[in-house]
Amino acid sequence: MKILITGAAGFIGMHLARTLSTKKHKILGIDNLNNYYSTKLKKDRIKILKKSNYFKFLKVDLKNKKKLNLIFKKFQPDIVVNLAAQAGVRYSLKYPQKYLSSNIIGFFNLIELASNYKIKHFVYASSSSVYGSRDFNKLNSESDMTDTPLSIYAVTKKTNENMAYTKSYLNNLRTTGVRFFTVYGPWGRPDMALFKFTKKILSNKEIEVYNNGKMSRSFTYIDDAINILEKIVLKKQKKNYKYNIPFDIVNLGSKTTIKLTSFIKIIEKNLKKKSIKRFLPLQDGDSLSTKASTKKLKLLCGSEPTTKINKGIKNFINWYKKYYKIT
Ligand SMILES: NC(=O)c1ccc[n+]([C@@H]2O[C@H](COP(=O)([O-])OP(=O)(O)OC[C@H]3O[C@@H](n4cnc5c(N)ncnc54)[C@H](O)[C@@H]3O)[C@@H](O)[C@H]2O)c1
Repeated sequence: MKILITGAAGFIGMHLARTLSTKKHKILGIDNLNNYYSTKLKKDRIKILKKSNYFKFLKVDLKNKKKLNLIFKKFQPDIVVNLAAQAGVRYSLKYPQKYLSSNIIGFFNLIELASNYKIKHFVYASSSSVYGSRDFNKLNSESDMTDTPLSIYAVTKKTNENMAYTKSYLNNLRTTGVRFFTVYGPWGRPDMALFKFTKKILSNKEIEVYNNGKMSRSFTYIDDAINILEKIVLKKQKKNYKYNIPFDIVNLGSKTTIKLTSFIKIIEKNLKKKSIKRFLPLQDGDSLSTKASTKKLKLLCGSEPTTKINKGIKNFINWYKKYYKIT
């Protein structure tokens, strides 16, 4: 298969591109290599990917529709996986405009081209943040209410889902939106808790603990996320779409939730070092807890995330120490 992966220099994009190129799919990875976090980390991810003859990289911004069009024309992808986005809930409180341009205009450019070039499957990253402030313990399925986004980031993800629906309906484009729940692991994102806490604990700096630690998350280990994402991407088109519109949305997350306080304890245990905590109120835009319902995922892919948090954190810390040469 020829697969175009956007956001290939990003955390999830890198892992997906690596897995699919190992399996001899022809991968074209694109990314604008923006400086939201370390560009060195992004370039190092690409360096690893480039070791495979099945992987090519182009520095492109999703906002540049002309360049994107040339890419579609030349590469003629069978499948597009859109993982490029301005990520991060908290940053969107300060810089909402960046989210609108990459996540809405950029997304629109890509899905239009995917539809014009009649690709077989358009898969894109959505997020658990579309569920807003709802009580995750009462979350039953993907069709539950998603009309109360708490941040512009969440608004952009919900808009992606709506745009995808319209494209599936109007142009018969097969789309699958994947609502990721806090993905973590080696090569992870420096703006996320595990990375930030590890870095700060190792350098004896205070860690910021929101809502006085009374928060919980469905933490999803990257290898689980990629195994499942690969199945979603390559899955043959099903025949029984609702109203015959080839549109799907699925949660990709662990059904086990971990309290923030337990999460910090596991990091401390692995680093053999205590943290210095600064307790802060709940940050605007943040959900108190997230918890994935995995019924649909199991039905669609026959599997769900299983890696235990202890093992996942241990693997991350081993990678972190090796990458930053910490003994
Ligand atoms: N990691 C998670 O826990 C998580 C949870 C929910 C949703 N998501 C979504 O999954 C996707 C991948 O997340 P990630 O954790 O790998 O994030 P990431 O920031 O590591 O990767 C995103 C990549 O997209 C690139 N990018 C941003 N804007 C672009 C543009 N306009 N044109 C081209 N490239 C652009 C960035 O340079 C980056 O390398 C994102 O859409 C994110 O919103 C991630």
